[in-house]
Amino acid sequence: MNNFIQNLPKAELHLHIEGTLEPELMFKLAHKNDVILPYKTIQEVRDAYNFSSLQSFLDLYYAGASVLIEESDFFELTWAYLQKCKEQTILHVEIFFDPQTHTKRGIAFETVLKGIVKALQKGKKELGISSFLIMCFLRHLSEEEAFKTLQESLAFKHHIIGVGLDSSEVGHPPSKFERVFKMARQEGYKVVAHAGEEGDNSYIWEAIKLLHVNRIDHGIRCDEDATLVDFLVQKQIPLTVCPLSNVKLKAVLNMPKHNILSLLKQGVLVTVNSDDPAYFGGYLNENYAALKEHLNASKKELTTLAKNSFQASFLSENEKQHYL
Ligand code: ADE
Ligand code: ZN
Repeated sequence: MNNFIQNLPKAELHLHIEGTLEPELMFKLAHKNDVILPYKTIQEVRDAYNFSSLQSFLDLYYAGASVLIEESDFFELTWAYLQKCKEQTILHVEIFFDPQTHTKRGIAFETVLKGIVKALQKGKKELGISSFLIMCFLRHLSEEEAFKTLQESLAFKHHIIGVGLDSSEVGHPPSKFERVFKMARQEGYKVVAHAGEEGDNSYIWEAIKLLHVNRIDHGIRCDEDATLVDFLVQKQIPLTVCPLSNVKLKAVLNMPKHNILSLLKQGVLVTVNSDDPAYFGGYLNENYAALKEHLNASKKELTTLAKNSFQASFLSENEKQHYL
């Protein structure tokens, strides 16, 4: 079965590049860049990965990202992830990056973008992995700061397919960014948003009705409202679900209680993703394997989930056909 998952052609649509920072690379870059970490050993870092909520994770995630300073650091981070993709038969990726996490610390937008893009170009050339880049706004920051980031991105529009919305969800609903997303759409960006991870189903409705998203990231709380589930099915609005993340961040009590297969059975276009694999104990194949182990997912269901990942991607209809 693990061979089956290993060899299944997959796309990954919900992956924060900063969330692929393994403790080994964190220490290496901290040493190179003279950044002081609040941990003495790699084991101490791993021991700290015991989260009680999304916020308890985000605090560590932003602290970890502080070791990323030079363009080569962003390149190395992204290249390591792409090699993992190669190992796991991930043929296409749509990667999030959080420019504000870095520009807030005085790192230039261009430094971040160039490092990531150079790795993605090398990944295409040497590993055959196709990719798109999605720029996320940090929703705990202001609308004004999001507008500034959107403005800054325009010079690099040819490298960015869309915008997203992440960070602390509750208290920062999609409506806060309605005008930013309107401008992003006018600029030709695709739009996605984290919604219904910790926030209730109203966050998903707002992302759909106010931001006009092409996909919902997470969206697992849609099952609180049958009308919403029907709407997602009818419109085939994809959900990028992250099973290991949901359990690690206590959005779901345990894996046997995860609703991903129930949503699949109801006809929702759900996909499997790893979110922040360095922090949540597994990359994409480990997420598929968890569904097999704890939810008894069949080969047919796993195949449908993998096909959904291409169907829900921003590849052209022609490119998708290759994988469906
Ligand atoms: N940033 C990185 N991972 C995230 C998640 N799971 N939810 C919200 N923001 C994030
Ligand atoms: Zn996420």
